[in-house]
Amino acid sequence: MSKLKITVCMGSSCFARGNQQNLAFIEAFIKAHDLEAEIDLSGARCSNKCASGPNVIINGVEYNGMDQDKLQQIMTKLLHNN
Ligand code: FES
Repeated sequence: MSKLKITVCMGSSCFARGNQQNLAFIEAFIKAHDLEAEIDLSGARCSNKCASGPNVIINGVEYNGMDQDKLQQIMTKLLHNN
């Protein structure tokens, strides 16, 4: 089973516009589903794409305008495909 690599933009724009909540959601999701070994979570600096943020990169794919519904869908789907 390959790890899910999630990188959350922690730049001030993305963070203020939703990634603070998105990060908390991911951390809670990992805890609730016991996924510490399956998910590699990290933060990134602003990549100058603030206008399309909040940005989250999952397994190399950048998702824009991320919210918790989308996160839940993507994480559930990818984890089931693993
Ligand atoms: S703060 Fe995320 S791209 Fe700028």
